[in-house]
Amino acid sequence: MFSKRVTVNVLRLFCTSRVALEASKKKAKAKAQDYIPENVKYGALSKAQKAFLDRVIRVDQAGELGANYIYMGQYAVLSTKYPHLKPVLQHMWDQEIYHHDTFNKLQHQRRVRPSLLTPLWKVGAIGIGVGTALISKEAAMACTVAVETVIGGHYNQQLRVLMNQFNIPVYDKETGRGLTPEEINKEIETSPELASLKSTISTFRDDELEHLDTAVEHDADKAVPYILLTETIKLVCRGAIWTAERV
Ligand SMILES: [Fe+2]
Ligand SMILES: [Fe+2]
Repeated sequence: MFSKRVTVNVLRLFCTSRVALEASKKKAKAKAQDYIPENVKYGALSKAQKAFLDRVIRVDQAGELGANYIYMGQYAVLSTKYPHLKPVLQHMWDQEIYHHDTFNKLQHQRRVRPSLLTPLWKVGAIGIGVGTALISKEAAMACTVAVETVIGGHYNQQLRVLMNQFNIPVYDKETGRGLTPEEINKEIETSPELASLKSTISTFRDDELEHLDTAVEHDADKAVPYILLTETIKLVCRGAIWTAERV
């Protein structure tokens, strides 16, 4: 009898706390759904966050400039010799021109100074494009594999930082009150500026990985010497990224 009463009480307590928990979850959810981008304003970025964004724009602009010039060089050598490669190279080159233009615009908007070594990136990239294309069409494709592998990884790394280290405070636009984590929903958790940069980088990352697939489909692995070529170009790209972030 006693134990039956205890069991009933425990069950009742369990149900009550569950109901209370569900109610508080619902309340938090309802609150979170109240805010839309038009109702909020964002706190300022820290000095470190600003510096990171400047570095992102500087290095990505330099990288896309490099990619643009590599394809320019490859296209100049290969398009007449291998007409069937013309549309393939043109498509990838067009995408790089668009990437380059996009980062040029961001650089002007955010007033980020370009890499001081821009002339070197131009000459180096065109040299890599022409040089690999002169070795063979497979070597040109192996160059694309190496470049896009490094750039794809580089963009992923930037996206990771933008996702994990850019939790800036969100305020009620009218009252100026800081919102609690429960009130911050998916729609407002990232400022429009940051959301747009993340979307640009992830779209470009996908384009680069598509270029990588295209190069593999066009016999990149038949380049001789494949390992030496790709590893050297990867090393050069990593060095260029490291330098362009800083100089
Ligand atoms: Fe690109
Ligand atoms: Fe690319």
